[in-house]
Parts: sequence; structure tokens; C-alpha cells
Amino acid sequence: MEESLFDEMKRYVAFDDEDAANLQALGKALEPAFPEIAERFYQRVSAHPAAAAILTEARADGTQFKRAVQRWMEGFFVGPYDSEHVRQVSLIGKAHVRVRLPQQYMITAMNVVRTELTQAAYHLGQPDPARAVLSLNKILDLELAVMLDSYRETYSHQVRQTERQRMERRLEEVSHLANVGELAASLAHEIKNPLAGISGAIQVIGSVLEPDDPRREIISEILSQIDRLDRTARDLLIYARPKPPSRTPKNLGKVIERTVKFLRQGPALHDIPIRCRGLDCGASARIDESQIEQVISNLVLNAAHACEEGGEVSISLWANRDNRYIEIADTGCGMTRESVERAFEPFFTTKVKGTGLGLAICKRIVEAHNGRITIDSVEGKGTQVRIQLLG
Ligand code: HEM
Repeated sequence: MEESLFDEMKRYVAFDDEDAANLQALGKALEPAFPEIAERFYQRVSAHPAAAAILTEARADGTQFKRAVQRWMEGFFVGPYDSEHVRQVSLIGKAHVRVRLPQQYMITAMNVVRTELTQAAYHLGQPDPARAVLSLNKILDLELAVMLDSYRETYSHQVRQTERQRMERRLEEVSHLANVGELAASLAHEIKNPLAGISGAIQVIGSVLEPDDPRREIISEILSQIDRLDRTARDLLIYARPKPPSRTPKNLGKVIERTVKFLRQGPALHDIPIRCRGLDCGASARIDESQIEQVISNLVLNAAHACEEGGEVSISLWANRDNRYIEIADTGCGMTRESVERAFEPFFTTKVKGTGLGLAICKRIVEAHNGRITIDSVEGKGTQVRIQLLG
């Protein structure tokens, strides 16, 4: 405890020079009884099985313990009540924290000391013992406050230390992940060219086969696997080496319209109905068009995938003064709570064919635009992904 806080506590219990003088006088009169009081205190503490277990575990020497308690009593009866006193009492508190003495034991033990000393004070037969006992109660409260404060100090120190260790571990993880990411990106880069070569060669082989040759099916399976590998390598590169967005003002409705039109040309959407709302609201934002197209395309494909067994996809656009919102919702299978929580983690996927990078890339892109992306989902009912962009 800081000395200033101790002074504040002294003011709080109205401890003044008169109390100090009362304690000096009482201490002098009680001093011969200190060994006996320390003995009784020790007996009371060790009679309690749990407290006795703490004494045994700490291998506390009874004689030393009693002497230490006696020294403590001498200290608080005499003063001065300065920073050195606070330091000494804090050390007692710290010794208790070290032996893991529960705080409530100190409070009850302090009452034992209080009772013993009060009784002894009344037995002295001095005039007006009540005044001296009042001062005694004030100092015992202050001593207890300092001892208990050691718990707070030690715990907050431990919390800070644990927090620092956690941060250090996290930093190590991040730098490890950064290295792994860079390695993966280099690997992806190395894979892409030979993959294009293999794909070309397979297509040449396929082209010489008769239209009804059963080996055509194998060729087409090889090509689709190559395509998958290529997509993974591309996603890895986008994720690990993101390009800073080059932003210009664009009409968001038009961007969405173009993306959906392009997707409809491919097989991925099958016959899943896509409903668009608000695309003509005129909302515009400063975006990197191709990056935002990629985000919308990833999200619409995810939504369509979730709807494979029925359901529909809807894309909504709306705006207020500061923000633009794009929401892609589906009435598909929905996600579990765990999946929602981990959805943006790289390599987290529930799809057999997914790279686990799609949503992580979306998040990176949206955040590079100073925007936000959030997911809401109810299992069995559907999912909504909302993008918020600055106008
Ligand atoms: C208000 C009540 C108490 C007071 C005033 C008090 C006082 C002291 C003092 C003066 C010391 C020596 C500190 C040092 O080495 O610097 C000490 C240590 C110790 N106290 Fe207490 N004590 C109290 C309550 C208790 C209780 C209830 C237990 C129960 C087991 C306990 C167990 C211990 C132990 C095990 C040590 C030794 C720590 C070590 O060796 O490091 N104390 N106490």
C-alpha cells in the first residue's frame, strides 16, 4: 500500500496524535503480556484444522511465528506510522499471500488479537481504558487494511504478469503464422505455373480421345481437381499477399448487378433464385471495384451453396448518410454457433471442397476498405452476411 493511501485511511478512521500517544502508553503497559498473547494467538490459530494445515505446509516454526507476532505488536504500539511501517506490515501480508492464506482467515485472526489485547487492556486497571481500546481498534483496522491490500497488489501483479506472458505467446504465434503464411504464398506461387502446364497437357491428351471414349471422364475429373488446386493457390496468394485497395467512387448497385450477371453465366448458381433489392438506390462508395466484386461473388456463391437443397438468395443494398450496407442472405441450412464464431478464421471450413479462405479474404478486403463484415445465422433457417462500407 502506498503511504498516501495509508494516510488517507488514517484520516478515514480519524487516527490522530492522541491515538498514537494512547497506543504508546498502552503498549508500554501491555508489553510484559506480549509473549503470552502471542502464545494464545498461536494456539487459537493452530487449533483450527485448516489454518494448522497451512502452518504445517509452510513449515512455520512456532517459536519464530510467535516472535514475529510479538515484533509486529511492538511495532504498531510504538509507531511511527510512516512509510517504513507500511512496508513492514505489507511484508506480513505478502508472507500470507505466499503461503496462500485465505483472506478471511486474517480477518478472523485479527479479531482474536483484538479480543486478547482488549481484555488485557481492561485488566490493567488504568483509568479510562475505553479511550485506549478505541485507539487500539483504529490501529488494528489500519494494520488489517494494509495486510489485505497485499493480496490485491500481489493478484494484480500476477494478472499483469499472466497478461504479459499471454501477449508474448500471441506475438510469437503471430510471427510464426506470418512466416508460415509467407511460405504458403511462395509455395502457391511455385505451384501455379506447373499446374497451368499440366492442365494444358491433359487437355491436349483429352482432345485426341474419341467423344465416347470412357477415359474422357477421367480427364475431366483430373481437370476439375487441377482447377480446385489452382483456386486454392490463388486464394492463398490473395490472402497471404493482399493488395492495398485502389479506391474510386462507384455505384454499388451497378457493381452488384454486374457480379451477379457474371455468376449467372457459370454453373455454380444452378437454378437457385436470386432476389435483388435496392440496387437502384444510387448508393455509391469509394471502393476497389474488383476486390468488392470478389467479396460479393464469394458471399453469393456461399449463399447459393447453402441453398443447394431448396431456398433462395437475396441481395439487398441500402444507405444512410454515412454508411452503405450490402446484405447477402439465404434461406439455406444455416450455421452452428461455433461455425459463426470461427467463420472468418483462415482455413476454417465446413465444406468438403472449400479452401477455408473465402470468408477470411472477404474480411481482409472489407477491413482494408475501413468497413465491417458480420454474420448472423440460425441453423436450419439461413444466414445473413452484412457488409458496412463508408460512403
Ligand atoms: C491478523 C492475523 C495475523 C498476523 C498479525 C500475522 C502475523 C504474521 C507475521 C508477523 C509473520 C511473519 C512475516 C515475515 O516473515 O515477514 C507471519 C507469517 C506467517 N503467518 Fe501470520 N499472521 C496472522 C494470521 C495468520 C493466520 C490466521 C495464519 C494461518 C495459518 C498465519 C500463518 C502464517 C504463516 C504460515 C507464516 C509464515 C510465512 C513464511 O514462513 O513465509 N498467519 N504472520
